[in-house]
Amino acid sequence: MFLTPEEEKMSNGEYGETIRKSMDILIALGDIYGAEKFVDISSAQVSGVSYKTIGQAGLEYLEDLALDTKAKASIPSTLNPAGVDLDNWEELGFSEFFANKQNKIVDAYGKLGINTTCTCTPYLIGNVPRFGDHISWSESSAVAYVNSVIGARTNREGGPGALAAAICGKTPLYGFHLDENRKATLKVNVDTELKGADFGALGYAIGQIVKDGVPYFTLSENQKISNDDLKTLGAALASSGAVALYQVEGVTPEYKDVGVEELKDVVSIDSSDIKETRAKLSTSDKDADLVCLGCPHASLAEIESLAEIVKGKKIKNELWICTSINIKASADRMGYTKIIENAGGHIVCDTCMVVAPIEDLGYKVIGVNSAKAANYVPSMGGIDVKYDDVENLLIFE
Ligand code: F3S
Repeated sequence: MFLTPEEEKMSNGEYGETIRKSMDILIALGDIYGAEKFVDISSAQVSGVSYKTIGQAGLEYLEDLALDTKAKASIPSTLNPAGVDLDNWEELGFSEFFANKQNKIVDAYGKLGINTTCTCTPYLIGNVPRFGDHISWSESSAVAYVNSVIGARTNREGGPGALAAAICGKTPLYGFHLDENRKATLKVNVDTELKGADFGALGYAIGQIVKDGVPYFTLSENQKISNDDLKTLGAALASSGAVALYQVEGVTPEYKDVGVEELKDVVSIDSSDIKETRAKLSTSDKDADLVCLGCPHASLAEIESLAEIVKGKKIKNELWICTSINIKASADRMGYTKIIENAGGHIVCDTCMVVAPIEDLGYKVIGVNSAKAANYVPSMGGIDVKYDDVENLLIFE
């Protein structure tokens, strides 16, 4: 890779050991993927936070990096969800051992200058790139969102790569940073009107077909689609396939520039495909003992709509809605938290049903309205899931 004089100095250790190690990681990535040079980035989003996924070795690696007090993120950078709600872990039933380890990981990231709001929807709380910005993000659902809905440019980075990029303020220039790799590869005509969990089912079905390609959706004539629907769709595409970028005709900012007219590969999706995929996403038809929403982390609008559903009622199953502390603060101010808590539910911060050690809490069936959660909860936690809209998952007294 070509290095500028400044990059040579970073790579030679003139700015300290952590910057040197970070440049090693980035140069290795650039060599593997054939990048000719680096590009400066405007933000980073770093995964590899939960003690469940990175363990003791990950904790020690981060604590070692954080010993170098000169090494700090050089651009705005945020963290992916952790393994527990950092403030309310005890109330939710997580162990002190796990919570202590988790706090040490988050502290190490903080020392490295990463903003420790632990969320997979940082674009809802201020880590918002602009159209065309080069960035380095690692949470797959967030990558799909910023590439597609905002039109920023990132590959699906691993945690160490995104951390190295946060520290150096650079990433190798390849993949989705380049125009030629942002062309659509599959046209998807959706011939049915979608609502709620249908968006996750659509993403799940198409992710399996398109793999790491770029799907281009045309929706039915009267279809409405919100930013929350787009985040649900992207998370599902990113988890069942390895989608980093998708287009929706008339909705996403780059849809006119992706060469759809040249596409030969076309699939159609109708209501029976959606119904079949929804059924496949459940591993149990029993009632959920925990309904866990907010995958990706909930927006204020999603919390508001949940508050409307549960207002004045008592829920029989446990209910968590996962989000960032920032969105929870707004929900507190708006009175939604109180409504949800009065009904017996919890707004859970910093974590989610996949990266938390939820298998230790004794739940048998988790109710989810996210195809990503339905995909990962059985494989990562060994627990059954029921996939449906929230109205059908909650049981009231
Ligand atoms: Fe976010 Fe956890 Fe889902 S990290 S996208 S809430 S699996």
